[in-house]
Amino acid sequence: MTAYTSSRLVLWTEVNLAMRIGILTGGGDCPGLNPAIRGAVFRALDFGDECVGIVGGWQGLLSCETEPLDLARVDEIIDQGGTILGTSRTNPFKDPALVQQTIANIGTLGLDAIIAIGGDDTLGVASKLATLGVKVVGVPKTMDNDLSGTDFTFGFDTSVSVALDAARRLKDTALSHRRIIVLEVMGRHAGWVALYTGIGSGADCTLIPEVPIDWNATVQRVMTAYKRKKYALVVVSEGIQIMQTSGEDVDDFGHPLLQSRGVGPEVARILEEKTGVSTRSATIGHIQRGGSPTLFDRMLGSRVGVKAVEMIHGGQFGQMAALHGTEVVAVPLAEAVGRLKTVPQEWVDLLTVFSK
Ligand code: F6P
Repeated sequence: MTAYTSSRLVLWTEVNLAMRIGILTGGGDCPGLNPAIRGAVFRALDFGDECVGIVGGWQGLLSCETEPLDLARVDEIIDQGGTILGTSRTNPFKDPALVQQTIANIGTLGLDAIIAIGGDDTLGVASKLATLGVKVVGVPKTMDNDLSGTDFTFGFDTSVSVALDAARRLKDTALSHRRIIVLEVMGRHAGWVALYTGIGSGADCTLIPEVPIDWNATVQRVMTAYKRKKYALVVVSEGIQIMQTSGEDVDDFGHPLLQSRGVGPEVARILEEKTGVSTRSATIGHIQRGGSPTLFDRMLGSRVGVKAVEMIHGGQFGQMAALHGTEVVAVPLAEAVGRLKTVPQEWVDLLTVFSK
């Protein structure tokens, strides 16, 4: 009994030593990152930890660019979009030498643990580093909401709210001119942003990457609504495939840069040709990613930031702070990365209910 108690005590003492924690944000920015950074720093203060901001995602660990993260730095950032730490799509696993440099620099900077805040790519790097012995925990973020292992990611709620505002405005002008209007929204490989925007805005037709386009059905759906309402709103995910693409620019993780594809204007062109109705399109683009986080994203960001620090002190490395129902829980990074959460059939069926 005594031995058990003392070994428990040693373990407890070990994990509760004050630490020097490096925090980074990687991948596309989204509202909620600053609340997450703030949540981590606030909780770290309870343990007497020192927080260090790693500037520009994994790139900051290659260049050893850091900044102190104290209460004064994070106190007022709860309502700020973007990330005060900057971000990049740097992938150290492109080159084994960069991986070694990353690990060496964690030592050089005297970091006891890393909090990596990001989506599938950033957390994929974190997961691989964890297998190499790096003490890293993840905080999931993505406006696309396509990360497995968590019910929602912060950034999604705000970005869809921005899209809903755009849709509301487009409906006014569409009705005035009796037009069909197409709104292209982000969401690289998954249709969640388009689906929520479509249902939430009352769109007449929503096109997502998970469902191949049936032009006859699309035209029929759009014209049925148009005849009833004298306008129609179509929401399109940037990720749908309607034209052959080759030689597209890709990022460090091999993802094509979709905005130059212009699927919104192309859908508008096809619809005008097939319906004979004057049609316009608008692409919301990066406007969708900026701005003050909604309450949901502020709360989720704050909660997962707090949890990440608690996970470090609990020795739960190689895991991320995920939302399951209403609880924030630790989930192995390996279970979350590398398999995107796309829109399943039951959600497609729900979307269909609202396409009349
Ligand atoms: O992954 C988030 C996201 O906003 C996608 O929806 C979009 O395709 C991509 O990032 C845009 O990336 P970038 O900011 O590098 O143009």
